[in-house]
Amino acid sequence: MKLSPSCQNHPTPFYYYDLGLLKETLRTLLRESGKYGYQVHYAIKANANPRLLKLISHEGLGADCVSGNEISRALECGFPANRIVYAGVGKSDEEIELALREDIFCFNCESLPEILIIQELAQRLGKKARIALRINPNVDAHTHHYITTGIEENKFGIYLYDLEHVLSEIKNLSQIELIGLHFHIGSQITDMTVFRGLCLRANEILQKLKEQGIVLPHINFGGGLGIDYQQPEQNPIADFKSYFATFSQFFEPAPHQQVHFELGRSVIAQCGHLVAKVLYVKEGKKRKFAILDAGMNDLLRPALYQAFHKIENISSDKPQEKYDVVGPICESADCFGKDVHLNQTQRGDKVVIHSCGAYGETMASRYNLRNVPDSCYSEE
Ligand code: LLP
Repeated sequence: MKLSPSCQNHPTPFYYYDLGLLKETLRTLLRESGKYGYQVHYAIKANANPRLLKLISHEGLGADCVSGNEISRALECGFPANRIVYAGVGKSDEEIELALREDIFCFNCESLPEILIIQELAQRLGKKARIALRINPNVDAHTHHYITTGIEENKFGIYLYDLEHVLSEIKNLSQIELIGLHFHIGSQITDMTVFRGLCLRANEILQKLKEQGIVLPHINFGGGLGIDYQQPEQNPIADFKSYFATFSQFFEPAPHQQVHFELGRSVIAQCGHLVAKVLYVKEGKKRKFAILDAGMNDLLRPALYQAFHKIENISSDKPQEKYDVVGPICESADCFGKDVHLNQTQRGDKVVIHSCGAYGETMASRYNLRNVPDSCYSEE
C-alpha cells in the first residue's frame, strides 16, 4: 500500500482514510440496495469521524445512532432527522428527550420499561415517538461471542416469548406509534446462511403478527455484514450483492413494507488503516519484537477480540522475517499480531495495519494518558 503524498510526512500514529475507496464502497452499496428499494442507515458507532460522516450523509444514507452524542454528531454532519434511527438497551432520559426534540425517524426499543419512559417523556414534551420493537430472534450469528447479539442469553432486544405482552401493553400508550420491527443479530457475519435464517425467522414472526391483524410498515434488519480481514487488497469492497440478494430471496415483506439496514463495518472498515512507526526492534532468544508507536489505546480490536488485522511494513523491501508486532503499553495484550511476516524491519520504518476503519478510531482511548490518534485523508 502507498500513502498519498499529503500523508507521507504526517506524524504517527494516525488513521489513514482512503476517501476514493469509501466513495466506491458507497456507490456499490447504493447500487445493490437500490435494486430492491432498501434503505440503508450507516451505523455511526463504527466510525464517527466528521469528514467521513459528511461524505456518507452526502451520498444519501441515513444514520443509526446509539447515543445522544451520536444523534447530535449525525445532525451536525448532514444526516436529516427523518433518516435517523436510535437503538440501545440503556437510553438515558436526557438522550430520549434529545431524540424527541429532534423528531428523529424511529426509536429502536429494547424493553417495555424503556417504552414506558419514552411515553412519559414524550407526553411531557407534547411529542409523539415512532418506535420499532427490537426483537431478539434467537438466531445464532456464529461470530465472536462478544459481537453476537441475537440469542436469548444476550441482553439485547425483546425476547420472542415477551412479544405478545409488550404488544398488548403498548396499544394504549397515547404518545407511542409502533411503526416497525428491528433485528440485529451480530457483526462480522460472512456466512449468508445466517442472514437466510434471520429472514425465515422474521417471516414467521410477521406471519404471527398478521394473524393478529398487525402489519407494520417498517422492518429493519440491523447490520452485521462482514469484511475480508485476511485479504483486504483482494476484497476491498464487502459482498453487498450477495447480502441484499439474500434478503430479497428469503424475506417475504408485506405489500409496501419498507426494509431497512444499519451497516457499519462493511461501509467503512476497509477504507481505514492505522499507520505507525517502528520505535525499536527487540530480539529475544525465541522471538523478535517490532515495537510500534501505536498501541491498544489506538486500536483495541486485537487486544479485546483477538481480532486479526493484516500488517505490512511499507518502508522496506527486504526479505520477510517473523515478528511479534506490539505497542508501547504496559499490558501483554498490547499486541497487534504474533509471528507476523514483515519485510525486514528497522527503527523508523512505517507499518500499516489494515482494515481499521470500523471500530478503530471510535474505540480509541487515552489509556496511559496517550493522545487519541490523529487522522489523515487520501485525496478524493
Ligand atoms: N445495528 C446495531 C443495533 C448494532 O448493535 C450494530 C453493531 C450495528 C447495527 C452495526 O453492525 P455492523 O454492520 O458494523 O456489523 N466493536 C466490535 C463490533 C461491535 C458491533 C456492535 N453493534 C468490533 O470491533 O468487531
